[in-house]
Parts: sequence; structure tokens; C-alpha cells
Amino acid sequence: MNPLSPFPLSLVVLISGHGSNLQAILDACQTGDLPARVAAVISNKRDAYGLERARLAKVPAVYHPKPKEQDRREYDAGLADLVAAYQPEWVVLAGWMRLLSNEFLRRFPNRVVNLHPALPGAFPGTEAISRAFEAFQRGEISQTGVMVHLVPDEGVDSGPVLAQVIVPIFSSDTLELLEERVHHVEHQLLVNTLKSLCVQPKRSIL
Ligand code: GRF
Repeated sequence: MNPLSPFPLSLVVLISGHGSNLQAILDACQTGDLPARVAAVISNKRDAYGLERARLAKVPAVYHPKPKEQDRREYDAGLADLVAAYQPEWVVLAGWMRLLSNEFLRRFPNRVVNLHPALPGAFPGTEAISRAFEAFQRGEISQTGVMVHLVPDEGVDSGPVLAQVIVPIFSSDTLELLEERVHHVEHQLLVNTLKSLCVQPKRSIL
């Protein structure tokens, strides 16, 4: 429970896949470590395992695909309606693999949070961990990281940074080892960042 309110803050989590970050959120809500509740999990992919995680946690799990013929902005407006119906304080993109247009974002100003498995400004877009690993192998970087940021506009992984953590890369690493290390850090950073968002008034964030 939120210590400042008898009602826990509500989150809607958007996913597209495995949902390990969603699981970290669900677990933290369950133990009370995160003073919030997940009002719904929405996936654009039918076979996203995160939907099953939501069902197991007794959270509404909604499959909401984008029809091929539908305009992207029209889809985003419909998605915003769907999300808004759950009245979330925060919309969390936890492995949501679609860029959101302003049709969606303007409905949740300063309330959309994204997780990116790299440091600010580094490797925007998909495959960030493997691109970091390749850059390390070419001798271009010695470390990578994880960041959580707000999504105010259509920029890719570029909004105001809420939190970041450096993740070392070792010469003995395989891609799998690095991925494991990054994901472990992601789970902690996402929950910790949401925790701080949930206990401070929204006004003080930006
Ligand atoms: C995470 O690495 C996230 O940062 C990226 O996609 C991955 C999703 O993992 N955007 P999961 O679905 O939470 O396990």
C-alpha cells in the first residue's frame, strides 16, 4: 500500500514478450515493496509469456494487436483508450516493442515510463544489449548499462532520465552472460524507480 494513501497507485504495464520485468513489478507489488498495483497488462503479441504471468498474478491480461491495415496513429489512439479505462497513475513500458506516437503519449503526459537496456544516448532501439556487446568486442566501449526514462514524445529511448546504472562488460563475457547481467540490473532498477515515483508527488518529478 502507498503509505500516503489508502489506495495503492495503479500501473498499466505494456509488454511484447517474456515479461521478466513485468514479473519483477508483480512480485514487488505482491510483497508490498512497491506501493502500487498492476491494474492491467497489455500485449501487442498473442504469445507474449508476460500475459501468462499476469493471469497467474490474477491481473487482467489483454491481448491488443495492431491489425496490419490499421494506421499506426489510429491504433495508438485506441490503445490509449484501452489504457485510460484502467485509470493508471503510471504507464510502464516493460519490453513493449512498438514506438508510441503522440496519439498515445499526449493522453498520458509525464506518465509514461520506459526501460532501456543501455545507458542514456547509447544504442537506442532494439537489440541494445547485443549491439553493446559487439561494440565492446570492437574495443569501442568498456561498459554498458540500463536506464529508466520518461517518454514525453516520439523520440526513441531518449526522454528525461529518471535513473541509470552502469553494467560492466568483462572480456570473459558471452552475449548470454551479459544479457543475464543486464536483465538482473533492469529488474532492480525498474522496481526501484517505480518505487520512487509512487511515493513522491508527480509535480516534483520534472
Ligand atoms: C528488456 O531488456 C527491456 O529493456 C527491453 O526488452 C526486454 C524485455 O524483457 N526493452 P522482458 O520481456 O521484461 O523479459
